[in-house]
Amino acid sequence: MFSGPHRNRLQSGSMTDIKQYLRSLKVFEGDLPTFDAGAAPDRPDQLFVQWLKQAVAAGIREPHAMTLSTLGVDGNPAARVLILKNVDGNGWQFAVHAGSPKGRELLVHPAAALTFHWREQARQVRVRGRVSAAPAQQSAADFLARPTGSRAESLIGRQSQPLTGPEDLDRASQESRERVDQQPDLVEPAWTLYTLKAESVEFWQGDQERKHVRLNFVRTENGWEKGLLWP
Ligand SMILES: Cc1cc2nc3c(=O)[nH]c(=O)nc-3n(C[C@H](O)[C@H](O)[C@H](O)COP(=O)(O)O)c2cc1C
Repeated sequence: MFSGPHRNRLQSGSMTDIKQYLRSLKVFEGDLPTFDAGAAPDRPDQLFVQWLKQAVAAGIREPHAMTLSTLGVDGNPAARVLILKNVDGNGWQFAVHAGSPKGRELLVHPAAALTFHWREQARQVRVRGRVSAAPAQQSAADFLARPTGSRAESLIGRQSQPLTGPEDLDRASQESRERVDQQPDLVEPAWTLYTLKAESVEFWQGDQERKHVRLNFVRTENGWEKGLLWP
């Protein structure tokens, strides 16, 4: 895992070495894109799609993976990576099993933050807002558009519960797979498509000289207000 001059130092296992090792790692390396905030569109979803396409063109893997942060039922923050399903003027969409911890958290506290990080471009997008569940029909359509294996996994419905051993997972996966094969139209009723209606969206472009460019959109009664932020 570690190589070069850091290897021997790290093998000593000292926390000081790890601190120095971390300090030696580079950030914002390579050929970074520029961001002309003055030329940005007036809607954050439009700028987001521009950046997403630029991330794809730059060869960034899984640019549609994002961190969804919620408020845990115990009042503490909780975060995990999810896949973005859609984005337009109505908001950012993702789909989860309503019985999972994140689903239960959103039921109690329907607000969230999404964070995208496109490392090779030193770009970050931060979205915050209220979350609402789509009508059952839309959630069902999303469910049926998923690959067979993903549908079978969701139908088990035990995400994040303690697992006694891999054999229990194998058995449940096989049974669920057989159900899906026999009933390809089967829909998990707890599968829920959510829309995060953004209140604020920040676009962050890293700069090697640390003059990062930050453009923040804030929702107003009449649309969006754009403003720069200090790095
Ligand atoms: C790249 C990536 C994509 C993921 N996509 C999803 C997803 O679309 N839906 C999902 O439920 N979990 C997804 N996960 C797993 C979640 O991060 C998480 O472990 C799981 O949803 C359980 O979260 P919870 O216990 O907070 O409910 C993904 C993980 C990674 C690393």
